Amino acid sequence: MSGANILEVEALHAHYGKSHVLQGVSITVGEAELVTLLGRNGAGKSTTLKSIAGAVVPTGGRVRFQGADVAGLPPHSIAKRGVCLVPEHRGIFKLLTVEENLLLGQRRDSPWQLDDIYRIFPRLKERRRNGGGQLSGGEQQMLAIGRALMNHPRLLILDEPVEGLAPVIVEEIVAQLKTIKAAGVAILLVEQNLEVCVQLADRHYIVEQGVIVHEAGNATFMADHDVKDRYLGVGLA
Ligand SMILES: Nc1ncnc2c1ncn2[C@@H]1O[C@H](COP(=O)(O)OP(=O)(O)OP(=O)(O)O)[C@@H](O)[C@H]1O
Ligand SMILES: [Mg+2]
Repeated sequence: MSGANILEVEALHAHYGKSHVLQGVSITVGEAELVTLLGRNGAGKSTTLKSIAGAVVPTGGRVRFQGADVAGLPPHSIAKRGVCLVPEHRGIFKLLTVEENLLLGQRRDSPWQLDDIYRIFPRLKERRRNGGGQLSGGEQQMLAIGRALMNHPRLLILDEPVEGLAPVIVEEIVAQLKTIKAAGVAILLVEQNLEVCVQLADRHYIVEQGVIVHEAGNATFMADHDVKDRYLGVGLA
C-alpha cells in the first residue's frame, strides 16, 4: 500500500467552458495499489479520470505519472507511457471480431498477449470469432479490459466497469480484476457499486463538487457508516 506512487495528482482543475468542474483534486495511486474514486452523480469522477488520461485538458494542477509530468499531453502519448483508460462506453468496434478488437490494443512488449487475455476471460476465447456487436454488456466490458491489458498498462483506469450488469457477471468481473491486480497492475476505479469497491480496493477517495472531501483505507471505510451516508447517501448494511 505504501512505497512509491505510480500516479500523483496534485490540485487538479478542469473546466467545461465556464463551468469549473474540478477545483483542486489531489489523489495518489501506489504501485500495484487499487484505489477507488467515489462520489455522487456529477461530482467529477469521470472528469478526473479523463483529465489524468488526457481526454480532458486540465486547466491547472499537476499529473505526475512514474515521476514525469503528463498533464496536458495528448491522450495517445499518455497511453504510450502506460496509462489505460477504459471509458464508460467501452469503445468496442461492433463490426470487428472479439479477437480483432483485442489485437487493436496489442503491443509486443506487453506481458499480456492473446493467450493471457483468454486465460483470464474464457468467455472471450469462446467468442473470439463473434462480432463485437454480438456481445452482451458484460462480455463487452471484459473485451474492453482485455484490450487495455494488451496495451501494457502500468495503470488501468476503469469508469463504472460493472454498471448495469447482472450480479453473476459482476462477480465474474470482480474475480478477473482481482487476478489483474494480483499481477501487479495499479488500478484506479470509479464504481457506484460499493460492494464491488470494498471487495477490491486498498484505499478510497470521495469527491464532491470537484474536491476530495474524504480519504480512507478499505477497512476504515467499510466500518464508517457515517461517511458512506453523508457523502454517498447509502447505508451499507
Ligand atoms: N462534456 C461536458 N460538457 C459540459 N459539462 C460536462 C461535460 N461532462 C460532464 N459535465 C458536467 O461536469 C460535472 C462533472 O461530471 P462528471 O461526468 O465528471 O461526473 P461523474 O462524477 O462522473 O458523474 P456520474 O456519476 O453521473 O458519472 C457534471 O456537472 C456534468 O454535468
Ligand atoms: Mg461518470
